[in-house]
Amino acid sequence: MTRTADSAIIDEIRQLKAERDAILLVHNYQPDEIQDIADITGDSLELSRAAATMKGEVIVFCGVDFMAETAAILSPKKTVLLPAENACCPMAQKIGADELRLAKERHPDAAVVCYVNSSAEVKAESDICCTSSNAVKVVNSVEQDEIIFVPDRNLGQYAQRFTKKKIFPWEGYCIVHDRITPAMVAEARKAHPGAMLLVHPECRPAVIDLADHVASTSGIIKEVCTSKAQEFIIGTEVGILHRLGRECPHKKCYPLSETAVCRNMKKTDLVKVRDSLKTLRPRITVQADVADRARGAIERMLAI
Ligand code: 13P
Ligand code: SF4
Repeated sequence: MTRTADSAIIDEIRQLKAERDAILLVHNYQPDEIQDIADITGDSLELSRAAATMKGEVIVFCGVDFMAETAAILSPKKTVLLPAENACCPMAQKIGADELRLAKERHPDAAVVCYVNSSAEVKAESDICCTSSNAVKVVNSVEQDEIIFVPDRNLGQYAQRFTKKKIFPWEGYCIVHDRITPAMVAEARKAHPGAMLLVHPECRPAVIDLADHVASTSGIIKEVCTSKAQEFIIGTEVGILHRLGRECPHKKCYPLSETAVCRNMKKTDLVKVRDSLKTLRPRITVQADVADRARGAIERMLAI
């Protein structure tokens, strides 16, 4: 699409947003042009907090399905839209509520800590949710000494480094982060000697071992902006580089892997955002009884 066509659509989006009393919440991995029209760009935790507290009748969630579901659970009276209807998180599909119920039977004394990258039904079966920015805090906040951690085994194993509790990680993983290998790290370090390596905790333990800093997407941005270092290798989805370029333009950031692209995050485009505001579709709703139980797990996390 041409720049003129883009700016005409952006004008329409602005007008529709005002008419609908809508806010645009945008994840750090979204396409550049979507980040540029955001009211708030953030990581999962920041966007959940915004969804719970922001004024406005309509939330346009530019991200993937579990994020919009979380917003719908936290703000049941608002209209929550996910412009890219089929934008899902494959990791969230690695566990269903029935499987989690069986795991609970196998570990009756364990608490269930559920990464927000999960379905509403799985959240409803969990004691507390976490995101990549608060997983360690959440794990250490529960009373039980044993924890079933779903669905990300890498984040579960990362949290295990900082707790005496016994974590049973589920066998899920992110297809984007789990593909990053120590060999890629070695190559990037060779290309950028002296650069700090910042990685997301969805990476494999062998990659985490090599990192200088491990953080959520917004944690990585904060580290780049506040660190004295000037060069950084960024071990997460490449969409984050746009925000890094905007917020810390004087720092040099290199992707650890150019192929770390979440295809689902890239399904949003300007036309879909405009059309969702026009039609108030696709709308994300969660069945009331499931939402009520899932809300407890999310709110316990937000209270920490
Ligand atoms: P953040 O919460 O760090 O933004 O991560 C979300 C996600 O999906 C990572 O792959
Ligand atoms: Fe899911 Fe991975 Fe995409 Fe994040 S990057 S939304 S965990 S598939």
